[in-house]
Amino acid sequence: MAFKERVFSGVQPTGNLHLGNYLGAISKFVPLQEKYDCIYCVVDMHAITVWQDPAELTKTTREVTAAFIACGLDPDKNIIFNQSQVAEHAELAWVFNCVARIGWLNRMTQFKEKTGKDRENASVGLYVYPSLMAADILLYRATHVPVGEDQKQHVELSRDIAQKFNNDFAPSIQSRGYGDAFFPLPEPLIQGQATRVMSLRDGSKKMSKSDPSDYSRINLTDDADAIAQKIRKAKTDPEPLPGEEKGLEPRPEADNLVGIYAALQGISRAEVLKEFGGAQFSTFKSALVDLAVAKLGPIGAEMKKLVQDPVYIDKVLANGSERAQAIAADTMKAVKDIVGFIRH
Ligand code: TYM
Repeated sequence: MAFKERVFSGVQPTGNLHLGNYLGAISKFVPLQEKYDCIYCVVDMHAITVWQDPAELTKTTREVTAAFIACGLDPDKNIIFNQSQVAEHAELAWVFNCVARIGWLNRMTQFKEKTGKDRENASVGLYVYPSLMAADILLYRATHVPVGEDQKQHVELSRDIAQKFNNDFAPSIQSRGYGDAFFPLPEPLIQGQATRVMSLRDGSKKMSKSDPSDYSRINLTDDADAIAQKIRKAKTDPEPLPGEEKGLEPRPEADNLVGIYAALQGISRAEVLKEFGGAQFSTFKSALVDLAVAKLGPIGAEMKKLVQDPVYIDKVLANGSERAQAIAADTMKAVKDIVGFIRH
């Protein structure tokens, strides 16, 4: 069966959104709205897999919504909503918990990284989080999922869950006229020069909301001074920039900064090195500060303006939730029939 092309992605409302979220994900959402039906979700149910202060969660949910809009997503064209308002996410996640295998979840590297030695103490929600993520995507039978590199394994697991559901219930799916497959196998869209933005303090660590050092990341709401300070303090090595991409391979910090420049400017690493090969980091960092301030400054300013108007933000989310729910309800009805649940 040919599935209608549809894009789904989600962002957790935990802590400050940073340059990695922007370059790896949100900036990629924007051009997709011209070509596809897109659904962008603030995944508040994912957020509570780790304890969140309730007032803070409300605030960050509005902030992520504001970031979507400030980065250029049109709330009329796209569906923008918060996950908890469409109950079908939790319902489908339960069905998927019964489809997914424990062995599959045991292989999830993010769970292992996040919990480390303290696994016994992690929430059950954190463990089954990939089932909920599969439900997010497949509730809308989405075919394309723009994400950063770190989410690739989770999107692949969503494909495995979709495939197993289609196989496990094949006769029921066919007898109801859905052809060979009820769910599409969603494809991760991981493209561009900055699919894995690294910490500014340590080129071997991902830029992340949870890093204790604020100097490790550029937040979308950082002002020009903060952006400049963080880039100037970013870890580098003593060599000038290489003239060719190959020269970046053994130099993770240099590679990261060149990748950030390339992504912000919309050019390749090779093009950046054509301009800056042989230059000292002081020269390159000054150019990067100017570029980052020019690109991120207006987004941060717009976000700050938008969060001043929670009534507007909440209206966007309510409208999006209603539109999302209409699609989700149809999928869930079909899933109940396929699984054999009696509907009244
Ligand atoms: P989250 O909230 O951690 O991150 C949101 C998006 O930002 C990307 N990202 C990065 N990209 C490049 N470099 C980085 N350093 C970096 N850090 C984060 C992430 O890859 C992601 O695309 N599980 C997801 C949220 C989610 C979701 C979904 C995504 C829930 N349901 C369904 C897609 C589809 C997460 O925790 O992303």
